[in-house]
Amino acid sequence: MKKPFHPIIGIIGGGQLGKMLIESGMPWNLQYNVIDPDPAASCKFYANTFINAGLKDGEAIKELAKISDVITYEIEHVNTEVLLELESQGKTIIPSPSILRIIQDKGLQKQFYKDNNLPTAEYRLVEKKEDWESVLNLFEGEKIVAKLCKGGYDGKGVSICNKKNIEAGIIPFDEPCIIEEFISGCREIAILVASNGKETVTWPSIEMDFDPKLNLVDLLFSPGNLDSDTEQKASKIAVEAIKALNGKGVFAVELFITPQGEVLINEIAPRPHNSGHHTIEASITSQYEQLNRILLNLPLGNTDLVMPAAMVNIIGPDNITGDYKLEGLEKAMQIPGFYLHLYKKNETRPGRKMGHYSVLASTVDEAIKKALEIKETLKITSI
Ligand SMILES: Nc1ncnc2c1ncn2[C@@H]1O[C@H](COP(=O)(O)OP(=O)(O)OP(=O)(O)O)[C@@H](O)[C@H]1O
Ligand SMILES: [Mg+2]
Repeated sequence: MKKPFHPIIGIIGGGQLGKMLIESGMPWNLQYNVIDPDPAASCKFYANTFINAGLKDGEAIKELAKISDVITYEIEHVNTEVLLELESQGKTIIPSPSILRIIQDKGLQKQFYKDNNLPTAEYRLVEKKEDWESVLNLFEGEKIVAKLCKGGYDGKGVSICNKKNIEAGIIPFDEPCIIEEFISGCREIAILVASNGKETVTWPSIEMDFDPKLNLVDLLFSPGNLDSDTEQKASKIAVEAIKALNGKGVFAVELFITPQGEVLINEIAPRPHNSGHHTIEASITSQYEQLNRILLNLPLGNTDLVMPAAMVNIIGPDNITGDYKLEGLEKAMQIPGFYLHLYKKNETRPGRKMGHYSVLASTVDEAIKKALEIKETLKITSI
């Protein structure tokens, strides 16, 4: 095969974020190699070379590096040591694995915010369950939030606990975790930030509504319902955080807005993010195209919204595992501005992200209204 004129991109992780990154590169004939432990990963048929291996498999990552000009990742839980080694040997890895090292560990992440005077909820580190009680009274209110330092994702590894239960010995984790102040009545937004090392840009805020049971994003919309001062404050904090990280890549900064209007950083994802799916249709440059631009060392694209948008994750229901179908498309397809993305997952599982849809409309309220109407009928069901 003739060598392409673009660098070949290696992606660690072959889930939906990788799939959408590859889809975004298709008009430019970009080529990708992918590693994923799931032999039926979303990216499998999109990759030039698909390496079926674990995300911590150092040998597989080195193999990926050999056949790719530049490496990125679509998930945090990868082998950072091997990436640091490859980077020290001159391989381009975006974002730098030194950032990943901080982000992979929620304890280090919180310490980083503190060290850089970035606003975040109060917290303490605990090593084991015996340590929990001693930190409880440092936090006001009836609840605290516990988060595993390592390995959590999609709300797994996060537990909102009643202090009374903890005192009664009901303690969800016995591993190193952070205990954090519960921010009551907060709203949640994300600011996507992209940087190529020279310029840094943000997209308009995205506001998220959560499914409290699954702790998963349920519906989100952009622009968020923020006054312009709060929007500016949130964007400024998000950019400061990425500058402090010296970050090159696309980042999602998740923020809480307290009832008093304070803006606190919850966490940062060093990759395209669930909260940015709508940018595919709603933005001049999507988060995925932007990452491709950065990986190719091209100028950043404009991040303005073409139209307000709402996005809903299509989630595997509680009562089905295995084969599935998607029901209710007829109605959805009649709604102007409806865009469907399915992730090519072989089987459904409770709480699994199977796809998403975005709805564009002339106002954000209209987009939310239509998205919720579609949500009534568009469902994963068993065959
Ligand atoms: N300090 C807090 N106060 C109130 N709610 C919180 C707090 N921390 C987390 N939450 C709630 O729990 C959710 C999941 O927390 P967090 O984002 O830290 O975990 P995660 O597993 O990394 O999730 P995801 O991968 O979905 O982003 C938050 O989006 C928020 O709804
Ligand atoms: Mg989160």
